[in-house]
Amino acid sequence: MSVAFQQCIHPDCAATYDVGQILTACPKCGSLLDVTYDWNAVPVPKSLSEFERRWTTRLNPVDYSGVWRFRELLPFATDEQIVTIGEGQTILQKNDKLARQCDMKVGHLFLQYEGMNPSGSFKDNGMTAASTHARMVGAKMTACASTGNTSASLAIYAGVTGHFQCIVFVGSGKIAFGKLSQALDYGAKTIQIRGDFDDALARVRDICAKHPIYLCNSVNPFRLEGQKTIMLRVLEGLGWQVPDWIVVPGGNLGNSSSFGKAFMELKALGLIDRVPRLAIINASGADTLDEFVNDGKLVWNGGRPNADQICGRYTTMDRDNERASTLASAIEINRPVNLEKALRALSVCNGIVRKVSDQEIIDSRARIAATGFGCEPASGATIAGVLRLRKEGVIHADDRVVCILTGHQLKDPDLTMAYHSGDPQLMSKKLTPAGVTSTPFANPPVVVDNDEVAILKALGLA
Ligand code: F0G
Repeated sequence: MSVAFQQCIHPDCAATYDVGQILTACPKCGSLLDVTYDWNAVPVPKSLSEFERRWTTRLNPVDYSGVWRFRELLPFATDEQIVTIGEGQTILQKNDKLARQCDMKVGHLFLQYEGMNPSGSFKDNGMTAASTHARMVGAKMTACASTGNTSASLAIYAGVTGHFQCIVFVGSGKIAFGKLSQALDYGAKTIQIRGDFDDALARVRDICAKHPIYLCNSVNPFRLEGQKTIMLRVLEGLGWQVPDWIVVPGGNLGNSSSFGKAFMELKALGLIDRVPRLAIINASGADTLDEFVNDGKLVWNGGRPNADQICGRYTTMDRDNERASTLASAIEINRPVNLEKALRALSVCNGIVRKVSDQEIIDSRARIAATGFGCEPASGATIAGVLRLRKEGVIHADDRVVCILTGHQLKDPDLTMAYHSGDPQLMSKKLTPAGVTSTPFANPPVVVDNDEVAILKALGLA
């Protein structure tokens, strides 16, 4: 066995498997799998700042990648096996304007802008890792279900690298056109099923289990290894200091799970001396985690969360045909597949969960965009969460807070236009049904005749 192996996260099982196996759940007990490492056999740097040396060798694609330049902390592939398209060139941005709006000290609020990835979302951090593993095991065909960004990301990796074909499953509901058009453009075989994301994911898992198709959703433990590096770049942006809070939108809970794993490992390796707190923000219309944690008091419990409670809730969800519904279509998910790992992350990071309304989400999205960092609605949940947690007094004015902007503004321009246009028709079609009744941060276009005097009047100059 190499230095890396796959391991069941359930402490009563903890079975291990070779990295050469294609698995998305433990064959013995059905739990989620981690990629784990024999750290004694890996040349782990003594300090995180040692990674800075890679800036001088950035002509080497694996040193240029914002994921693989940290490869000693996800050592499951050789340099020759790595599939990279230059992902992870994302930076931490201090945002004083938003800090003031959130009643925080200037210099204390940061945005980690993952929309700057090749496919426009954080998913590329994970997809480079899943694509690398797919190549290691000789996969010819890959697949995923998606609310849009995972499919765009998988499609770009398949298209650019030519290592494998790809099939994407999307629901027929709210997928944003920016995302769907990417999958189509990059040549993915796109299956739009009648159903939502939860249906699409159940279907693709079943199909991949029965056929030689490599699954790239976040139940794939290799994908989450890549997403750990978002946290490494956050630390790098803070001069290798640990912030007080990481705030992240929660959908399928892959990101929050990988962040928890990153901090767990960094602490165990002695590379950080404390872990930040984690705030996972659900949309109110897709609030399964919030309900489990805040109402149901579900906890990690050393790896033994209450399985009956989880099963029981999913049974009533099925019985009553409960469906997720939010304008933040990226996180319109009722059955987060990484629930257990997210509970672990909450335990490791003394984390909390909140839910915010669609009104709060899209107002916050507009506030973020007005500072020059466009993001999609799901990412707006972060600032909505910070505003809420400031009011509750949970986040303090002088805490250092990092919000993860998960996807680019251009992913969902329809919603942005519905917000800004001031067009009552667009408003009543797109926003009102979701309970959005006002657009306080709208910046509508001013329509004037093509006439100098009229234009100057509109500008207040005449
Ligand atoms: N933000 C964006 C922009 C997303 O696309 C997603 C997930 C999330 C947040 C939630 O992240 O699942 O790790 O909790 N999108 C998936 C997709 C489900 O199919 O693109 P998570």
